[in-house]
Amino acid sequence: MKKRVFSGIQPTGDIHIGNYLGAIKQWVASQTEYEDIFCIVDLHAITVAQEPNTLKSKIREVAGLLFAAGIDPKITVVFIQSHISAHAELAWLLNCFIPMGWMNRMTQFKEKSHRQREQVSVGLFDYPALMAADILLYEADLVPVGEDQRQHVELTRDVSQRFNSIYGETFKIPEALIPQFGARVMGLDDPTQKMSKSEPGSGHAINLLDTPDVIRAKVMRATTDSQREVCFDESRPGIYNLLGIYEGFTGLGRPEIESRFVGKGYVDLKKELAEVVVAGLSPLQSRYRELTREPGYIDSLLNEGADRVRPVAEETLAKVKQQIGLG
Ligand code: TYM
Repeated sequence: MKKRVFSGIQPTGDIHIGNYLGAIKQWVASQTEYEDIFCIVDLHAITVAQEPNTLKSKIREVAGLLFAAGIDPKITVVFIQSHISAHAELAWLLNCFIPMGWMNRMTQFKEKSHRQREQVSVGLFDYPALMAADILLYEADLVPVGEDQRQHVELTRDVSQRFNSIYGETFKIPEALIPQFGARVMGLDDPTQKMSKSEPGSGHAINLLDTPDVIRAKVMRATTDSQREVCFDESRPGIYNLLGIYEGFTGLGRPEIESRFVGKGYVDLKKELAEVVVAGLSPLQSRYRELTREPGYIDSLLNEGADRVRPVAEETLAKVKQQIGLG
């Protein structure tokens, strides 16, 4: 029996190389070893305001990017969260087992709500409960995510253990799978901040559909420092981040990367990095253009995906309701 993998991505903003190195790349690599289920989490997306037409087209764009990156729809399921109503239903049930204190500790909510202040929705606060429902519905063993999602997976583990201790063995306890490289890609304009889809600055993130010239310009403008030596030094966040991206795209070891830049400066690193990223994204971009040429193709894959896993979600939900004594 293969272990089951579940993960999700929000269809908001532009998908960037942080999402790619932190999550998508390892999703693609995991397909032969594991049974994979990936979800486009549109219900999570609406925890902040979304324009309806943009949301609809972003859902298709993200799906197209996943398939273009190498997710194989013949072996791996990709579906839209709102196509399976069990997600929202289980989230409600889990809400009744998650103490407020646990939710109050979620750092991502603190960061996101700080930016929005008065406009913060109850949904944004409750985001981790819905995420726990996503994972637990499919009895996932492993959840491949970037470092920023570790705390949410921990909460999922906590609530599943709590539920199991009250009602007996019901949920499988999942584990986060955080990549060795690329788990926390930082913004190019400010390497002390995580690269994020919601950050508006044009020099902040490299998006997967950026043209080669845009990628080059963004890399060349990236914030560094006034030193010279190109080496992995965490106390120099700008250069450390650029080298981390280089490492993520090339798969080379750190000593080898450092030896390539002996006697060279930051400009050399930036020039080479830009070409590494351009070359790394180019096959994905051409597959994306091919896949999206045929109208309705992506939708048909997403509908098939939901049909394949809906019975699993419904069975888990039915079991949970029975344990609780509902109905
Ligand atoms: P989202 O859409 O924000 O991010 C998708 C994935 O990309 C990773 N990531 C990063 N990795 C490295 N560096 C970065 N700068 C960076 N930014 C984002 C995220 O860690 C994530 O793995 N809450 C999830 C979506 C979700 C989910 C789930 C994930 C909903 N339900 C169930 C796993 C299981 C999220 O933040 O997506």
